[in-house]
Amino acid sequence: DQNGGGSAPKGQAGELHQQAGDGHPVLTTNQGVPVADNQNSLRAHDRGPTLLEDFISREKLTHFDHERIPERVVHARGTGAHGYFELTESLAQYTTARLFTEVGERTPVFCRLSTVVGNKGSMDTPRDARGFATKFYTKDGNYDLVGNNMPVFFIQDAIKFPDLVHAVKPEPDRGFPQASGAHDTFWDFISLMPESMHMIMWLMSDRAIPRSLAMMEGFGIHSFRFLDAEGRATFVKFHWKPRLGMQSLVWDEAVKIAGADNDFNRRDLHDRIKSGKALPTWDLAVQLFTEEDAAQFPFDHLDATKIIPEELVPLKVVGHMVLDRWVDNFFAETEQVAFCPANVVPGIDFSEDPLLQGRIFSYLDTQLIRLGGPNFQQIPVNAPKCPFANHQQDGFMQMGRPKGRVMYEPASLDEDPKTARATAGGFRSATVPASGQRTRLRPESFADHYSQARQFYRSQQPLEQAHLAAALVFELSKVETVRIREAMVGHLRHIDEDLAARVAAGLGLQGMPEPPDAARPVQDLPLSPALSLIGNSVPTLEGRSVGILFDE
Ligand code: HEM
Repeated sequence: DQNGGGSAPKGQAGELHQQAGDGHPVLTTNQGVPVADNQNSLRAHDRGPTLLEDFISREKLTHFDHERIPERVVHARGTGAHGYFELTESLAQYTTARLFTEVGERTPVFCRLSTVVGNKGSMDTPRDARGFATKFYTKDGNYDLVGNNMPVFFIQDAIKFPDLVHAVKPEPDRGFPQASGAHDTFWDFISLMPESMHMIMWLMSDRAIPRSLAMMEGFGIHSFRFLDAEGRATFVKFHWKPRLGMQSLVWDEAVKIAGADNDFNRRDLHDRIKSGKALPTWDLAVQLFTEEDAAQFPFDHLDATKIIPEELVPLKVVGHMVLDRWVDNFFAETEQVAFCPANVVPGIDFSEDPLLQGRIFSYLDTQLIRLGGPNFQQIPVNAPKCPFANHQQDGFMQMGRPKGRVMYEPASLDEDPKTARATAGGFRSATVPASGQRTRLRPESFADHYSQARQFYRSQQPLEQAHLAAALVFELSKVETVRIREAMVGHLRHIDEDLAARVAAGLGLQGMPEPPDAARPVQDLPLSPALSLIGNSVPTLEGRSVGILFDE
């Protein structure tokens, strides 16, 4: 049992260590001392001051005083559950990663679904992207697929992430708005970032308000590499497809629900899993392509503001994930889980996407402070479920108790049972030739910011287009600075003149603003029906505006 609290999990060294709970009928202190009175502090006399000596009261208050840890710097609000991933189609031709080669094998997972902007106590239904993070406890270590419910991102380079988040989070001088992009700082930043326009189309679309977390897609976004036994690489993009199809709230519903039930999406996920009747299930699909394929794409797959349309590289379903076990304890599991895009396993490697490259650094860095030091991977929800051993030692909150003298390698003093040695079958990075000059210049291939934004907008059904235009009008009408509204409409003119006209009319602009210079001519790409939410929903909720599905 990896959850502790009522059980006695195995320690790193294979020994049992006990945790509070255990069904013990007697109330004790953390030292195991039985408590006789949990109602009254020890006082100098019945109406006298409390004594410092009262270690029982002090311990209780002190522990309470330290209950809070920092919330995540982004994605603070989330909910999660355990489950499994079952492989149905082997990818052995492309990768040695065993979770993708052993058909029928069920790999345990923990999945956390989150909003991005709001703090831990914000509502479930803002217009926002949703995080879709999955930790696979594989036989070769933990593999984290840390994605979102949209396949593109705002920025191309991780160095812009702090700027993006500072712009979208509450304005620093006023502390609001808490969970919405409808404010000057966000739109100021966006209006100066042409590369964000594709993501803005997704964010203003109905996808940004999922009806249920079990009814949204998930995307790994970046290209990764699969590596076969000979070290040959194939690029891969990951997609989660909800078995329930996609469904969203309309804005009016979202606003009402936010007032009536802050916890709408998390309650729905809980009820589905606890009832056992409508377990959230997603198919996992991959897009596979080679370096040579990539050279033919009219965009750069290393640019996280671009999709690879399904029409260009079809999706191959390889398995499915079912969430079937709610957590025992929200804090111990959902709050303390630490996902990290750097957690890859043999057979999977990174690409050179400059957004991914920054993410590889940032998550571990923030978790070192969020979870109190270098031993947070020993927290049961973060620990691998396969054997693990190395010579790392000490540090705050160390729970491991490795025996013997040898905490280094190579070593010849081998009386120690724990001999952790590097192995030939271990993780290897892809062999990628590198040449050229160091530079901060973005490649030319990252310069087309509008073509896929247009492709997305024009692939929507008319109703979706109307919602998208209305969302832009609503959001931009909250922006006080008229210059920013105009700049945004200028960008929209590159995407679709009709969309720009609708938004300009909705905002009451006098005349159409000039579009900014586009670094690249905007292309009319083939429409992609897979991008339409209406075309990809399952009409199980017809006639109902709110509520969960499992009773239908
Ligand atoms: C948290 C996704 C870009 C830094 C998260 C989480 C998700 C996510 C799903 C929540 C994980 C959880 O549930 O605990 C993404 C996606 C990105 C992206 C899909 C773009 C493709 C970035 C970038 C950075 C970054 C560029 C920084 C360079 C962080 C940090 C956290 C976080 C610091 C908090 C982690 C923690 O406290 O445990 N991100 N993110 N993200 N992300 Fe990202």
